[in-house]
Amino acid sequence: MTDLDRLLDANRRWAAKMTAADPEYFSRLAKQQSPRYLWIGCSDSRVPANVITGLPSGEIFVHRNIANVVNHTDLNCLSVVQFAVEELQVEHIIVCGHYGCGGVAAALNPTSMGIADNWLRHIRDVAATHQDDLLAIDDADQRRRRLCELNAVAQVENLCHSTIVQNAWKIGRPLHVHGWIYAIEDGLLKDLGVSASSANDVPDAYRIDTATLWRRRATG
Ligand code: CO
Repeated sequence: MTDLDRLLDANRRWAAKMTAADPEYFSRLAKQQSPRYLWIGCSDSRVPANVITGLPSGEIFVHRNIANVVNHTDLNCLSVVQFAVEELQVEHIIVCGHYGCGGVAAALNPTSMGIADNWLRHIRDVAATHQDDLLAIDDADQRRRRLCELNAVAQVENLCHSTIVQNAWKIGRPLHVHGWIYAIEDGLLKDLGVSASSANDVPDAYRIDTATLWRRRATG
């Protein structure tokens, strides 16, 4: 049996097991998804959203990229966020970093990673913003761990600065943005305590009232 045959074989056994436990499982899922959560996490194979949160298919919408970055010019991420917030109407967005993140470690190192250097620039920006705090940590591993946390917090802020999240709050939709970190070494998630639930959590410099766009257009 080849590696790929093993995957296909496992899939058939899984589908049969799910159907045996609940004959309507797949036909119900095929009709709709109604997840309450959007997960923005790292692509790292050791941080699978459904597995570590114990959520079955259909209950968590997922976007993953290297080092769980939320950037205001990334159409991929923004499209996922818009669909999750405006169509699926998720109530919680979880930005989840993880200790031992290779992307974060690379951003603390001058070695080039090729085209990914441009992606990791976002994390270098976070490191530069918190340079003094990071340099105060003597142990290199602890410094990397701290940047994993700071990066997750920065991406929560980026999400809150987006017009999508601000617009949802403007129209009174309940939406909470959270920053978590996952420890691969013990499998545990930790809340970083930076949850945001309203425009009051957004600094003035980043506040945008999307309603003004339509008012301006309506009045010519
Ligand atoms: Co990672």
